[in-house]
Formats: sequence, structure tokens, C-alpha cells
Amino acid sequence: MAEKAKIAVFISGEGTNMAALVYASRMPESPYEVVLVASNDPEAAGLNLAAAEGIATFACLHKGMTREAHDAAMEAAVLEAGADHIALAGYMRILSDGFVERWAGRMLNIHPSLLPLYKGLDTHARAIAAGDSHGGASVHLVTPELDAGEVLAQIAVPIAPGDTPETLAARVKLAEHQLYPRALADYVSRWQDPVALLARVRALALALPETDEKVSHGSPAFRVGGEKSGKFFAYFADQHHGSPYIACLVRTGSMDELLALVEDQPEVYFKPAYYGASGWVGIILNRPGVDWDAVAAWLERSWRGAAPKRLTRLLDIADEF
Ligand code: GRF
Repeated sequence: MAEKAKIAVFISGEGTNMAALVYASRMPESPYEVVLVASNDPEAAGLNLAAAEGIATFACLHKGMTREAHDAAMEAAVLEAGADHIALAGYMRILSDGFVERWAGRMLNIHPSLLPLYKGLDTHARAIAAGDSHGGASVHLVTPELDAGEVLAQIAVPIAPGDTPETLAARVKLAEHQLYPRALADYVSRWQDPVALLARVRALALALPETDEKVSHGSPAFRVGGEKSGKFFAYFADQHHGSPYIACLVRTGSMDELLALVEDQPEVYFKPAYYGASGWVGIILNRPGVDWDAVAAWLERSWRGAAPKRLTRLLDIADEF
């Protein structure tokens, strides 16, 4: 199994979501481990649990500190613990934009509503007052705008007759404790998940003009130029012919170019079985930190090589402007 993602959990209070994340991480096959529990409140109950579980803890009271200075202290603890992701779990501080930007794509939060409904506080009271049939919870990526980052997972919870904000909150929390560990596990595993990787390649390939998708030799493949005379410009290969790689195959200019790529950057490129013989290179996708802009550029180049003149000419004209 690949190395586990290392998570720092930020809390301000009870820390029941933190506990759910910790215990899920103790189940076999968990793709993450919790390496730090940090709080802006030294009295946060969750810190005791984390310590009892043998997890490093850090607390720094925010009072009297600037937001930047407090964030810097928290971040230093995160780096010291070797965490590569941050999970906010009832962390009641707004983080500075600089901090959020440095952790973009690596920081998640759980919010007790069905986003985009009810950002901010008092979510349960607002859902009840609005007469909603359901409340719920959302796990989302953290961006500078409050509770507005991409939603990764949601769970709906019915509002029962006679529910108060407290009774609803308690029920939503049970659901949160199921949702957060699963969403976090899926998120940190996405770089080795063929379904997620194919979805990304597909979105890039089909964004190019006059493309369609067709299964070729059992693999999803992408063509340009229409049903009859279309030519393939990309294949998605999920560990083919004993290869350990999940890859996107695109066409290079020549065998020399292909071999030079593989020799210079063997962590990025490989020569695929069969297709390699005609100059197709494999871009390895199942590794952390794939440069998706580079994948998009390769797809466009490969598309250009396969597209009929009438299409590339239009693009060349557009490029001139
Ligand atoms: C949860 O309801 C969470 O959605 C919200 O804050 C609460 C934290 O509860 N962001 P706990 O500290 O995890 O018990």
C-alpha cells in the first residue's frame, strides 16, 4: 500500500469529528493517519483525547495575537509534525488568506449544512426556521471565501417534528462522523483512483473541439474528427499489460523524442507496451503532484497531430489574436 497521507486536525471544542477521523484511521486500509491535533484553545476537550491516543498535540491561544501570527504558529506545528493535509473540524477561527492559499487543495473543512445553503453560523436554527425537510453536512475544500470551496461530499439528515437546533445538531453530528472520514480518505486517495483520474483526463480531452470518446481495445480512448473519419489522439490506460501505471497515452513527434522523455523524467513518462512502438508516450497519473496543466498541453498537442486541417487552421487563426 502507498504511504499514508499525514493529517493535521484543527479543533476549537469538543472534537468529536476529530475523534471520528482518528478512529477511522485506525481501521485496516486507511489511506491516512492523524499526526497532529492542534487548537486555538488550550482548554479544548478534544486535546485530551488526542493526547491519550498518543497523537501529538499543539495549542496556542489566539487572544492578543494578530491573525497572521496565530496562523504562523499553527502552521509551524503542522510542518513540524510532517503533515501534508489539514482537516478543519470545528475550528472556529477564520484563517488568513496567505495561509489558505499555501494549503490550497490540501485543506478540508466540515460544515453542518447542505452547502451552498446556510454558510456561517447557526445553520441548524436557520434550516428549522426555513421549514426545510432536511439539514445535513458538507465536506469542502477550504478557499479564502468562507464555506465556499468545492464540495467534496454531503449527507442529508431529516428534520423531525419538534426538532430543536440542539436535537438536530446531535443527529447531524452522527452523520458527520460517517461522512468526514470517508470524504477525507477518498480525497487523499484520489491520485491513485482510476475513476477519478479518468474523469479528469476525460474532462480535458472532451474540452477540445470535435472530440468524442470510444472504447478501443478495452480502454477509454478519445478521437477527433467525427464518427467516420475520426482519429485517436489519447488513450487512458489503467495498469495495462502488467504495468504499475495508470496513464494517459499521447502521441509524441518521434521515437527519439519519446525515448528522451522517458530517459530524462522516468517518474513522469514511460514507453507503453504496443503503443510505444508507434511513438505514443505514457504520462504517469497515479503519483502525487501530477502537473495537470502539462497533461492538458500534451492532450492539445496530440489532438493537433490527429485533427483535420480545417480544425487546426481555425485554432491557428484564433492563436494569432
Ligand atoms: C461540527 O458540527 C462541524 O460541522 C462544525 O463544528 C462542529 C464541530 O463539532 N464545523 P466537534 O468539535 O467535531 O464535535
